[in-house]
Amino acid sequence: MLVFIVVYSCLLYILSSGQITPAVIYPTLGPVNPIPNNDSMLNFTFIYPANYQFVNLYVQFTIYDFVNNTVLSPTKYPFSWANFTNSNTSLPWVVPNVLMIPGDYVFGCFEWVQTDASDLTLSDINECVLTRASINSTTPPIVPLNVSNPVATATSITFYTYTSQMLPYDQVNITANINGTVQPSITNTTSNATYNINMFYFMNLTQNTPYNICISYIYANSLIKGSDAMDTSCDVMTTSSTSSVSSIAPASSTLPTPSPSFNTTTSRPSSGNSFNKTILYLMTTISIFISIFI
Ligand SMILES: *[C@@H]1O[C@H](CO)[C@@H](O)[C@H](O)[C@H]1NC(C)=O
Ligand SMILES: *[C@@H]1O[C@H](CO)[C@@H](O)[C@H](O)[C@H]1NC(C)=O
Ligand SMILES: *[C@@H]1O[C@H](CO)[C@@H](O)[C@H](O)[C@H]1NC(C)=O
Ligand SMILES: *[C@@H]1O[C@H](CO)[C@@H](O)[C@H](O)[C@H]1NC(C)=O
Ligand SMILES: *[C@@H]1O[C@H](CO)[C@@H](O)[C@H](O)[C@H]1NC(C)=O
Ligand SMILES: *[C@@H]1O[C@H](CO)[C@@H](O)[C@H](O)[C@H]1NC(C)=O
Ligand SMILES: *[C@@H]1O[C@H](CO)[C@@H](O)[C@H](O)[C@H]1NC(C)=O
Ligand SMILES: *[C@@H]1O[C@H](CO)[C@@H](O)[C@H](O)[C@H]1NC(C)=O
Ligand SMILES: *[C@@H]1O[C@H](CO)[C@@H](O)[C@H](O)[C@H]1NC(C)=O
Ligand SMILES: *[C@@H]1O[C@H](CO)[C@@H](O)[C@H](O)[C@H]1NC(C)=O
Ligand SMILES: *[C@@H]1O[C@H](CO)[C@@H](O)[C@H](O)[C@H]1NC(C)=O
Ligand SMILES: *[C@@H]1O[C@H](CO)[C@@H](O)[C@H](O)[C@H]1NC(C)=O
Repeated sequence: MLVFIVVYSCLLYILSSGQITPAVIYPTLGPVNPIPNNDSMLNFTFIYPANYQFVNLYVQFTIYDFVNNTVLSPTKYPFSWANFTNSNTSLPWVVPNVLMIPGDYVFGCFEWVQTDASDLTLSDINECVLTRASINSTTPPIVPLNVSNPVATATSITFYTYTSQMLPYDQVNITANINGTVQPSITNTTSNATYNINMFYFMNLTQNTPYNICISYIYANSLIKGSDAMDTSCDVMTTSSTSSVSSIAPASSTLPTPSPSFNTTTSRPSSGNSFNKTILYLMTTISIFISIFI
C-alpha cells in the first residue's frame, strides 16, 4: 500500500536549503551552516535590510544547547554585546566559540537593539533560530509536526498530529478547524516515548462535501525569549457519499501518515511573546513528500 508522508520542514532546513532571501525590515538570522569536519561548531549568518542605516546597533548572542534533550535545562552560553555604529554591518556571520554536542538541538538567540544618536531605542528585537549541531558535517532534520492522512466518512473527518518529544519546546499548542469555523467535536492527547499525539475528530459533516482542513501549531520554550515558532497548513478533503470510509490510508496505520497535499507556510515571529504580523517574517514554503511502500 502506498502511503504518503509529508514532513513539515524545519526552519533550519528551509534556511539551509538555498531558499530565496526574504526582504527584512530589521537585521535577522539567516541560514545556519555546519562547519566542515567540526560537528561541535555552527556558523550563524545574518541578513540585513537593503541600504540599512543606523547610528548604533547592539547585538547580543546566546546559545542554548539542549544536551540530553533537557527542555528546561539547556546548557546556556551567553556572550557580551557586540556594538556597531554608522551603518557598519560588518557582521555577516559568526561562529560562536562554544563546543556543542553533535546532533543536539540548539537555539541560537540574538537580540538586536537599534538606537539613535541620543541612544534612544528605536527597535529591540529578540529572535532565535532552532537548529541542530551537525553530524558528519550534515545538519540532521528538524520535524516540527507530522500529520496523519485524514480519514473521512460521510459525516466525519479524523486525523492525528505527531509532535516529536525531542523538540526543545515546553509549550505546544496545536489546533485545527475545518472551513475556518467548524471546531473539532472531540480532541484527544496521548503520548509515547517518541511523540505527543493529538487526535482531532470532526462530526456531523455533510456527505460528499469538500472541507478545508487547517492545522496550526504554536511552539515556545518558556525560558527563551524569541523561541516561538508557528505554522499553519491546510488541505481540502471531501467526505464520502456513502457511509463507507474513504481514505487512502488504513485507519489502523500506526505510522504518522500525513497528507501530501497539505500546503505549509512557516512563519517565525522575531520578537518576544506576541506574534505580531508586522515583525513576522514569512519563510518560503517547503514540503517534503515521501512515498513509502508498506
Ligand atoms: C572544532 O573547532 C574547535 C575550535 O577551533 C576546536 O576546539 C575543536 O577541537 C574542534 N573539534 C573537532 C572535532 O575538530
Ligand atoms: C559562514 O557562512 C558564511 C556564509 O555562507 C561563509 O561566507 C563563511 O565563510 C562561513 N564561515 C565559516 C567559518 O565557515
Ligand atoms: C548527558 O548524558 C550523559 C550520559 O548519560 C551524561 O554523562 C552527561 O553528564 C549528561 N549531560 C548533561 C549536561 O546533562
Ligand atoms: C555595547 O553596548 C552595550 C549595551 O548598550 C553596553 O553595555 C556595552 O558596554 C557596549 N560595549 C562596548 C564594548 O562598547
Ligand atoms: C559518520 O561518518 C563515519 C565515517 O564515514 C561513519 O562511520 C558514521 O556512521 C557516520 N555517522 C553518522 C551518524 O552518519
Ligand atoms: C451532532 O448531531 C447530533 C444529532 O443531531 C447532536 O445531538 C449532536 O449534538 C451534534 N454534535 C455536534 C458536535 O454538533
Ligand atoms: C483518547 O485517548 C485514550 C488514551 O489516553 C484512548 O483510550 C481513547 O480511545 C482516546 N479516545 C479517542 C476518541 O480516540
Ligand atoms: C466548506 O468549504 C467548501 C469549499 O472550501 C465548500 O464547498 C463547502 O460547502 C463548505 N462546507 C460547509 C459545511 O460550509
Ligand atoms: C498554549 O495554550 C495555553 C493555554 O491556552 C497558554 O497558556 C499558553 O500561553 C499557550 N502557549 C503558547 C506558546 O501560545
Ligand atoms: C497548494 O498550493 C498550490 C499553489 O499555491 C495550489 O495550486 C494548490 O491548490 C494548493 N493545494 C491545496 C490542497 O490547498
Ligand atoms: C509512538 O507512536 C507512533 C505512532 O503511533 C509510533 O510510530 C512510534 O513507534 C511510537 N513510539 C514508541 C516508542 O512507542
Ligand atoms: C504590531 O506592531 C505594530 C507596530 O510595531 C503595532 O502598530 C500593532 O498594533 C501591533 N499589532 C499587534 C496585534 O500587536
